[in-house]
Amino acid sequence: MERDRILDLLEEAGTHVSGEQLSRGLGVSRSAVWKQIRSLRELGYRISGSPRSGYLYEGAPDLLLPREIRKHLQGGTFGREIIHLSTTASTNQTALELARQGYPEGTVVVAEEQTAGRGRWQRSWHSPAGCGIWLSLILRPPLAPVEVPQITLVVGASCARAIEAVTGLRPGIKWPNDLVWEGKKLCGILVEMEAATEQVKHLVAGIGINVNQEEEDFPPELRETAASLRMALGCRVERALLAGILLATLEQDYREFLCRGLDSSRETWLAYQITLGHRVRVQLRGRELTGEATGLDAGGNLILRLDDGTLQKVSSGEIILCRGVPAS
Ligand code: BTN
Repeated sequence: MERDRILDLLEEAGTHVSGEQLSRGLGVSRSAVWKQIRSLRELGYRISGSPRSGYLYEGAPDLLLPREIRKHLQGGTFGREIIHLSTTASTNQTALELARQGYPEGTVVVAEEQTAGRGRWQRSWHSPAGCGIWLSLILRPPLAPVEVPQITLVVGASCARAIEAVTGLRPGIKWPNDLVWEGKKLCGILVEMEAATEQVKHLVAGIGINVNQEEEDFPPELRETAASLRMALGCRVERALLAGILLATLEQDYREFLCRGLDSSRETWLAYQITLGHRVRVQLRGRELTGEATGLDAGGNLILRLDDGTLQKVSSGEIILCRGVPAS
């Protein structure tokens, strides 16, 4: 796109570039250059300019623009196609529609705002404009539907790795894949799939990261349980950078997973997890179990030692850590 080429030229130069140089470099008229500069400024790019010295690139807007995300990718397939929306009901919903239309693996839908963000267990996900990363990735893994929960663990481990790489903050993973800081949720993952009996047709890995919210940006009912990276770090985080590193990390971990299975992410997951070794309550549909979380089996299920000593495999559920009650 001409606009991207103008940005490339300005950024590479790192100094003033005249309209004449831009128009020669791009093979377009000076008025075409001016129109593109105007539309870039409207998008929020900071480009100063004077008739004498030319244009100077001063920075990108705080938006999840495909170009700004792609700068951090390493030439794989994740993020080759990025659909950036100012607002949408749910990026998962949009990505599922695109997957049905045949969009390839690696396609990303990212939105500044979601008006009906979806969480696990039919909950909603608060997704205000310009504060977070609300992103969905289309995957077409050669897996059976029963193996899909393993992907959610891989995605959780990748998110933790990417957040630590970009911010230095080490989130905890609460089984299966909630990322938390001081007990408050920073990031949630919702994997939704469409499958034939034996084989996944496609799935969408939806990732919501609370990035730059302040406490008052959360509705009162979430303030006890949710936090953002900004609240944890005391400074803003560049969302496009984090989204780019996240996609690059995810691609690496996903490829490893397809080659080696869950073992590829097990160590990372274990290094960040905060569930094992704790006494927990597990809320299942309509009932609750209490016991010690003792391990993760080969399929990513949680192993719980119940109070009568029996071991119980848990494949899904909401975990509540029983704080202050050591596992005995
Ligand atoms: C959870 O309940 O922990 C999962 C939350 C997942 C939220 C993300 S935001 C991007 C994607 N689109 C959605 O509608 N949901 C997921």
